[in-house]
Amino acid sequence: MNAREFIERIKIVPVVKIDDVKDTDALMNALCEGGIPIAEITFRTSCAPEAIKIASQKYGDKMLVGAGTVINAEQAKLAIQNGAQFIVSPGFAKEISDVCNKAGISYVPGCVTPTEIMAAIACGHKIIKFFPASNYGGVATIKALSAPFGDIVFIPTGGINANNINDFLAVKSIIACGGSWMVKDSLVKEGKFDEIVKICKEAVSIIGG
Ligand code: 3PG
Repeated sequence: MNAREFIERIKIVPVVKIDDVKDTDALMNALCEGGIPIAEITFRTSCAPEAIKIASQKYGDKMLVGAGTVINAEQAKLAIQNGAQFIVSPGFAKEISDVCNKAGISYVPGCVTPTEIMAAIACGHKIIKFFPASNYGGVATIKALSAPFGDIVFIPTGGINANNINDFLAVKSIIACGGSWMVKDSLVKEGKFDEIVKICKEAVSIIGG
């Protein structure tokens, strides 16, 4: 199963920020236990490459591990070297696209305008992170963008939670939603991994998984 198929099947992409690399194991385990075996491990903390390495080595056979908040080619290379199976960035960057295309790794760039989407299409990308989704018009904007870009699928992220996820997933061109609501910083810091499992299970049940 490739990254897109995996994401289409699970329908939720947890956006994970790991402050202490020691939490990686418990957090990945909680996502798997909770039925959302995907992690977009963000380069918002310096331990991201190490966390990606641990996650992909230990959980790579049962979960899809990718990198998020990748903002340059250097981070993209580092993420791929450490086992990331997909790369997400908040915007579109040609230099990241080039690294991913060369490595044969899926790149999910953040785009919110037709021009940005056209730049992504020109580099061969078909999965768009619509970010920050709620600020840029949410469902209505994605529906409008889906008309001219029939081939494109979206992973809206930013402001999505258990209360509104089904509004997004009801749109045909939306294959999954991203978000951090099930992996809140405070829960990770306090070691409340059982709570993370619970919120994940609730999310899975809400989307009818
Ligand atoms: C991201 O980078 O994808 C977002 O910060 C996630 O958005 P959320 O925290 O509103 O879910």
